Amino acid sequence: MARIIDGKMISTIIKDECKEKAAALKKQGREVCLAVIQVGSDPASSVYVNNKKKACAYIGINSLSYELEEKTTQEELIELIAKLNERKDVNGILVQLPLPKHIDENAVIKAIDPKKDVDGFHPQSVGALCIGQPGFVSCTPAGIIELLKRSDVDICGKRCVIIGRSNIVGKPMALLMLRENATVTIAHSKTDDLREVCKRADILIVAMGKPKFIDASYVKEGAVVIDVGIHRNENNKLCGDVEFESVSKQASAITPVPGGVGPMTIAMLMKNCVDSIELQ
Ligand code: GUN
Repeated sequence: MARIIDGKMISTIIKDECKEKAAALKKQGREVCLAVIQVGSDPASSVYVNNKKKACAYIGINSLSYELEEKTTQEELIELIAKLNERKDVNGILVQLPLPKHIDENAVIKAIDPKKDVDGFHPQSVGALCIGQPGFVSCTPAGIIELLKRSDVDICGKRCVIIGRSNIVGKPMALLMLRENATVTIAHSKTDDLREVCKRADILIVAMGKPKFIDASYVKEGAVVIDVGIHRNENNKLCGDVEFESVSKQASAITPVPGGVGPMTIAMLMKNCVDSIELQ
């Protein structure tokens, strides 16, 4: 039976480290402030945004909340971002995705000052990651690196397979694992013989968005399995992209859903917010 990598516990440790750092900054008269923008009222986005605001309150970070109407124009949104870019009292700017269809996400992300890009989505942040320069890193992949390191999983020299090539998870994850000297393969929906590719992995990171797709037949004995998926199953219970019951018998360590990768994303957002003050 695999060791469970406890994301809830590790995320709490990181949040408490952030809390200490925020308190030390406050003593020097420097307060951290995150601006959170949501356009429209997608229920899932509202849950995420509320969790981010709650985490800010826990850590002692000020948060500004902008709940804009669905019909907000791209120009109005970019105008708000420009104002927040200028404000000295705002350290981080986060625009919750997805945005309504009439708004070009890339144009909006590009409008954020890279020094305040706590989501790490700006092309400058992504480019900096690619060439090993300092900058914000997308929170979910950064959180997975913390999970592995704080669980004493050896990354250097290991074969890592990532399933998924999104801008938010798969691509930055590959760059981060490469930075840790893993041998990295990115697989995706068009990969031939996905099972055989996955079976070679010492560390398998699954971000494919298909409930319980990865069963034990995809996993090498003793591999470390990280499940980025989050879905509701037929009984309305949360599950990941990995079939936990069978894979946990094959793997040496595994993240559960819930309580694995999920809580790490917000913890790393908080870390980016506290660290942002040093960039500014
Ligand atoms: N939508 C889903 N995940 C994220 C995230 O990490 N950041 C933002 N801004 N929107 C999201």
